[in-house]
Amino acid sequence: MKTTEIKPGIFWVGAIDWAVRDFHGYITPKGTTYNNYLIMDDQVTLVDTVKHDFSHMTVENISSLVDPSKIINLVINHIEPDHASSIDKIMSLAPEATIYITDKGKKGLDRHFDTSKWKFNIVKSGHTLKTGKYTLTFLETPMLHWPDSMMTYVNEAKLLISQDAFGQHIATSARFDEEFIECASHSELEDSVVDYYANILMPFGELIKNKIAEVQKLGLKIDMIAPDHGVIWKKEAGNIIQKYLDLANGKSSLSIAIIYDTMWHSTELMTIPIMQGIKDEGIDCKVIKLRATPMSVAIKEFWKSRGCLIGSPTLNNILFPSVAEYLTHLKGLRPKNRMIGAFGSYGWGGGAVREAYEEFKKMKLEIYEPGLQVLYKPSQKDNEMCYDFGRNFAKKIKEYHTNFN
Ligand code: FEO
Repeated sequence: MKTTEIKPGIFWVGAIDWAVRDFHGYITPKGTTYNNYLIMDDQVTLVDTVKHDFSHMTVENISSLVDPSKIINLVINHIEPDHASSIDKIMSLAPEATIYITDKGKKGLDRHFDTSKWKFNIVKSGHTLKTGKYTLTFLETPMLHWPDSMMTYVNEAKLLISQDAFGQHIATSARFDEEFIECASHSELEDSVVDYYANILMPFGELIKNKIAEVQKLGLKIDMIAPDHGVIWKKEAGNIIQKYLDLANGKSSLSIAIIYDTMWHSTELMTIPIMQGIKDEGIDCKVIKLRATPMSVAIKEFWKSRGCLIGSPTLNNILFPSVAEYLTHLKGLRPKNRMIGAFGSYGWGGGAVREAYEEFKKMKLEIYEPGLQVLYKPSQKDNEMCYDFGRNFAKKIKEYHTNFN
């Protein structure tokens, strides 16, 4: 893979991971990229590294531009291993380089590497590094999404190197948004942004809003955003900031997701009249079976919709395991501004729907009650109840959605 000059003298020198499908449990059907950037200035400066399996690729890319021993500064925006686990390789080639990193980043690196021989410069928001014609300004972004996280703004290039923020898990030969939109589509790119936000950044909406406000207050002019995954925002740099604000403000379409699992198809049969009731209320509805869908996709579909109905059969008086796993995952993402309800079938004691509502109460979601339970297989009368359940839920969602317009 050749390097790409993204701004005069600033090069993408990263790696494309076409094959990764399980990214620490986050399913990535489209793979990803590990982006890092080389600033060819009076002081050669590398911003971030790549996942260690790909260190040979970034070294090859760097070497096509400069002898890696000439790297004077290594900026580490984030220490998660997909970005920082090639540090030892880079430092073995450029042992005199100084690492620019946050205090928390340094403490984290100390737990992963023998850092005793490396030089560090601990930075805070507003600290700068002059590399020659370029000035780098560091901007701490704690908990976006790790305590160590920061971004690097290249003043003269109006370039924000944003680490994970604004990323997408897409393996593509396109380096820029406009190329991707031309060879794939705008909606595919947008879907990847929502997927990434929902699965990684959903818990941090308030922090995101505050950080964007802080950047706007600083008056930084940004005409390009270079994240550490996926395509670089060039044509859509302004739009992606607005998109993040929308996501952080809980914006969604007026739609409903039915997310369920089933044992002997009874809960599955319930989804059909429920979906019809929702549709007849004029609301778009998606039906997602958990064991047939990657977790990350089911999370994305939840976040894209204003409302969600969770369907689970009862197994041993509690939730079906795949549904329990989904709710555990969802709870960790601390969703807000969504309405949720539950339904399911049971054979004798029941329990799944009750347990689903217990889980909902631990989340900051608007709860739709009562849930709906059906004994064994839905009868004609049960089907009518399911239809009404879907239709009434849809009516509530219409009202609820007006809060977000
Ligand atoms: Fe792409 Fe937080 O690592």
